[in-house]
Amino acid sequence: MARHLKTSLLSLLPLLVVTVSAGVFLSIDCGSSESFTDERNIEWVGDNLYIGQGRSVVFGNRGLLSRVMTTLRVFESMTKSCYRIDVSGGRRVLVRASFNYGNYDGKSFPPSFGLQFGANDWDTVVTSLDQPVSHEAIYVVGGDATSVCVALTLTNQFPFVSTIEVRSLEWSMYAHVDPSRALFLRRREAFGAQQIVRYKDDVYDRIWTPSIKSNGWTALASDTSFNVPALEDKPPALVLQTAVAPTQLSNLSIPLTNLSTSTVTIYMNMYFSEMSELESTQMRSFEIYVDGVNVSAPVSPPYQDFIELSFANITANSNTAIELRPTADSTLPPIISAMEVFLVSAALSNGTNADDGTSLIETSSNVDSRCSIKRIRMLKTPDFNMIVNALGTIVVVAGVLFVLHHRKKN
Ligand SMILES: *[C@@H]1O[C@H](CO)[C@@H](O)[C@H](O)[C@H]1NC(C)=O
Ligand SMILES: *[C@@H]1O[C@H](CO)[C@@H](O)[C@H](O)[C@H]1NC(C)=O
Ligand SMILES: *[C@@H]1O[C@H](CO)[C@@H](O)[C@H](O)[C@H]1NC(C)=O
Ligand SMILES: *[C@@H]1O[C@H](CO)[C@@H](O)[C@H](O)[C@H]1NC(C)=O
Ligand SMILES: *[C@@H]1O[C@H](CO)[C@@H](O)[C@H](O)[C@H]1NC(C)=O
Repeated sequence: MARHLKTSLLSLLPLLVVTVSAGVFLSIDCGSSESFTDERNIEWVGDNLYIGQGRSVVFGNRGLLSRVMTTLRVFESMTKSCYRIDVSGGRRVLVRASFNYGNYDGKSFPPSFGLQFGANDWDTVVTSLDQPVSHEAIYVVGGDATSVCVALTLTNQFPFVSTIEVRSLEWSMYAHVDPSRALFLRRREAFGAQQIVRYKDDVYDRIWTPSIKSNGWTALASDTSFNVPALEDKPPALVLQTAVAPTQLSNLSIPLTNLSTSTVTIYMNMYFSEMSELESTQMRSFEIYVDGVNVSAPVSPPYQDFIELSFANITANSNTAIELRPTADSTLPPIISAMEVFLVSAALSNGTNADDGTSLIETSSNVDSRCSIKRIRMLKTPDFNMIVNALGTIVVVAGVLFVLHHRKKN
């Protein structure tokens, strides 16, 4: 197994060099003025090149925290403060901002404040007394720079930032969303995994959280490894080597935790792979149901390969039932290896507004006219359809975009 893994990582290497060097892979240690390389071989830089405001704070006691969580920059005199980050135009980026309060001010009062990118609202940051919180967004950058901003929204609750990470993604990744909208991560799970999967196993440094626990699930591990094709969302090979399944032939229901009770539009990716070669008498086949509605053709996960389903436009809340139901001819329960759920944002403003340093920006009036026409057209031109058809089949069932991607074996 270890040998197989090494082989597959080695064969990923040329891909890694091409994809990562072509884009941005920037890790900012806010409040620090030094560069250093962490245990995952990620290089962190101080934040003085990216912002000219705020006060740097360095914690006295590190404890078990990673080094980057022991510095922060706090903004005590600005309404809104922005980090400006250069990226080449037209790129899809993953941006992750993390906040570790660490009681740096001795008040035992973790603040809440606004988080924005460019002129767009992102989320409300609710910091915690004893652990870091993170927010991740994926979006297409309108110009040559993007900005990550924090905004004072409650009296005396001063915004701060601990880290900002920016990773370029391929244009093919998370591409079934209108490029004038952002995706806000709600969960990214590696079912059956024993530990977090991230860089370098994931060259894009997505963080896949292990998930096993639930009513009647059993964790499974693959007896093989394989190279993941450089297509679509490029899940790391490791997350396709574990899975969960119900212990008996029954429905596998996946609760949509991390959504609120109010209804929103979500973008959901599911990844399936068979863990061992099935006997000729065995058959695993299931369909996806959302609130009791069938939204997929029957899925039979391939061995030494995977299938990904993308649902770009599901209306959901925390009560929405996502179920994998075995088809009548299936002898084995449904199985799933990984899943990502994002909130789909409102239409974005094209403004990069990175120089803004004082007041909140109104985003209302000219939003539509400022969306990048070129990128919206990408989704609708024959070019785009050709790309998708080369990867698989699109079926639209009940208003849900359904993409079946199956790598052909060579
Ligand atoms: C979006 O912003 C970029 C950079 O400022 C600009 O080049 C582009 O023309 C803008 N697009 C639209 C549709 O306004
Ligand atoms: C989902 O919620 C849990 C519990 O609140 C939290 O630990 C986890 O980080 C959240 N996942 C994401 C992707 O926000
Ligand atoms: C899955 O759930 C549906 C709807 O509740 C039910 O009709 C079906 O029997 C269940 N399938 C299995 C295998 O339990
Ligand atoms: C679910 O939908 C797919 C695609 O339309 C179809 O092939 C399949 O037969 C449906 N399943 C059921 C049980 O209706
Ligand atoms: C998403 O689904 C809703 C409701 O089914 C529909 O009105 C809307 O046009 C869809 N949006 C996209 C981008 O497909």
